[in-house]
Amino acid sequence: MEIVFATNNQHKLSELRRIVGERYNILSLADINCHEDIPETSDTLTGNALQKARYIKEHYGYDCFADDTGLMVDALDGAPGVYSARYAGPGHDSVANMRLLLENMDGKENRSARFVTVIALILNGEERTFEGCVEGEILTAPEGDGGFGYDPIFRPDGQPQSFALMSADAKNAISHRGRATAKLLNYLDQL
Ligand code: IMP
Repeated sequence: MEIVFATNNQHKLSELRRIVGERYNILSLADINCHEDIPETSDTLTGNALQKARYIKEHYGYDCFADDTGLMVDALDGAPGVYSARYAGPGHDSVANMRLLLENMDGKENRSARFVTVIALILNGEERTFEGCVEGEILTAPEGDGGFGYDPIFRPDGQPQSFALMSADAKNAISHRGRATAKLLNYLDQL
């Protein structure tokens, strides 16, 4: 089965393709010749995921799914949250985002945080959402350079090291996106 994943983020695409395996042919936005910026103007993860999926369905006609992820830090009242990609400004600069987060966490004792992913699926005229979450803590300095985004400063609970030091398979097995994707696949498998 062919389905569009409304992203051009190569890291996310390869993570997703690895999780899904041979079962589905995941097309990217580039594969369907969509090169514009898709609006993401909601103040919730679910709102943004639905907005992106609906945009692709309306403008390109494909059944598709879209995701939105936020890193919620307790000591910062849930920030950066839905604004995780643009925390340090509109440039989507991961290094600047991490630096600002570490600065804002300076001196905070409570370093607990969680990644949350919402996937919105539009298939056969129906909309559904699937949520995945991983609890962890914000490290005091980056560890490793694997993965992407905030991976070097997030250590998931029960693990000795940051996401950036884990293999792709080990991260996928416990990550927010891995868990949301497992729910998506479980749903697709039951169709
Ligand atoms: P998006 O909604 O998936 O684009 O993610 C929003 C922000 O969270 C971006 O800055 C990403 O870099 C970051 N992010 C999303 N997923 C992950 C992840 O698995 N690890 C680290 N950062 C992530």
